[in-house]
Parts: sequence; C-alpha cells; structure tokens
Amino acid sequence: MRWERGHVTEAFTPDFYLPDLNLYVELTTLKSSLTAEKNRKMRLLKELYPEVNVIMLKKRDYLRLLAKYGYGPLSPDQVPDIDRVLITATKLQQRVGELGAQISRDYAGKEPVLIGVLRGVICFISDLMRHISVPSAVDLMAISSYEGNGAGAVRILKDIDENIKGRDVLLVEDIVDTGMTLNHVIDYLQTKRPASIRVCTLLDKRARRIVNVPLDYVAFEIPDEFVVGYGLDFHQRFRNLPFIAVLKHELLP
Ligand code: IMP
Repeated sequence: MRWERGHVTEAFTPDFYLPDLNLYVELTTLKSSLTAEKNRKMRLLKELYPEVNVIMLKKRDYLRLLAKYGYGPLSPDQVPDIDRVLITATKLQQRVGELGAQISRDYAGKEPVLIGVLRGVICFISDLMRHISVPSAVDLMAISSYEGNGAGAVRILKDIDENIKGRDVLLVEDIVDTGMTLNHVIDYLQTKRPASIRVCTLLDKRARRIVNVPLDYVAFEIPDEFVVGYGLDFHQRFRNLPFIAVLKHELLP
C-alpha cells in the first residue's frame, strides 16, 4: 500500500484466502484507539485498488451471516459460551429425515405410539414425527431425576395420556448419556404392557454408558462433551439453537 525507494513500507496481508470465491479475509479486533488508523487503511486500499471489492463486516453482520446459514440465531451474549458447532442445522435435518424414512419402513402396517421424554426432546420429536409416514400417535412424559440418593431413579412428573397396552411404542430420547434415565423409563413403560418398545435417540454419548440399554435408532454418536441446542439445555438456556454445539468447558461444574 506504500512504497519508499522501491521497498514496501505498508502492506495489507489478509489472514485467509478462499480460492473458490476469490475472497481474502482479514480478521481483526477493532480497538477504539485504532479505529481511525484502520479506517484510513481501508480508504487507501479502496483508492489504490478500485477494482477490488472491500467490505467490512462488523460483529453484528457476522452474527447475521451465522443465522442466515444455519448457525444461528445466536445472540451476542450466547456466542462466548459456545466452544464450537458440533452438528449443523442442515445435518440435523438431513439425518432426522433419514431416520423418519427408516422408521416408516420398519413400522409399515403398524401404528406406533411415539413417546417423547420432555423437555430436551421437543425439537427432535417434532421434526421426526413429520418424517414418519405410517399412522402414529404422539405422547409426552416428563420425569425428574432423584437427586442425592445415588441410585439414579427417576420420578414421573407427567405420565403419558395414551393407553399403550398391546401397542408398539417408539420411545424418543434427546440424548443417552449414562443410560440410567432411559433404563428407568423403559422399566416404567414395560409395566403398562405394550406389545413392543423400541428406542430412538438423537444423540448417543456412548463413552459414558453405565447401563447398557439397547438403542434401535441413533441419529448421531457424539464424543464425551456437554452439548446444547436443538432442545438440549444448560440451566434452561440454548434450547432454541437450531444446531448442536459444545459448551465451553469452563462453564461446567
Ligand atoms: P443419562 O440418564 O445419564 O443417560 O442422562 C440423560 C439425560 O441427561 C438427558 O435426557 C439429558 O437431559 C441430560 N444430558 C446428558 N448429557 C447431556 C448434554 O451433553 N447436554 C444436555 N443434557 C444432557
């Protein structure tokens, strides 16, 4: 950008080049004390190379782009809590569609009852049921883990409304971690004498399994990380994210 006696004395050296788009990307923190200097550099760049399209994206523009391409909506105060996106919205939708098709084939000629365990399952079950083409019923139950007794027993806060005796149940879960919750829910549902119970989970954190419960349908196996989004929460936050993200480790107890 500036030369003295044949030597370059001021240059612009972008951090990335995206060849497919012929696009250079410079990431910078705009310290207020440096704003005037950076604006001067931008002006000079535009003057010297009018054929180059130079655009400055501010943080809010960047967040808007994230939202537009399926990584949002992240409010600026949520961004610092997220370590990385593990499963994008596009991948979630694609995989849920595949599972729905598979379930529809497996239950051909039957009329399953989908049972979701609140609240983490809300996004998954509502997307999944729309990809299931066989006639089916949907019901929801809510449970809470007993805390402090170490046995990992669960208490039923809201029971199912459907009578499932003699019917084919598809239990839909958000995530299977130790397997304790699922194990108790299955035992409980068995007492209502359904014809069959199969399990469909969005996420399988297999590395942490304590109770070995058979899973019939798994959308994604994930590493041993605490994840949020697409229904899953951390202190009731992040359920509204349309993707699955890993929470920053330092936020966890
Ligand atoms: P489990 O009984 O240990 O298998 O735990 C299952 C329940 O723990 C899930 O239904 C979630 O509510 C919660 N859980 C486990 N891992 C995560 C996670 O990574 N993010 C959010 N919730 C989780």
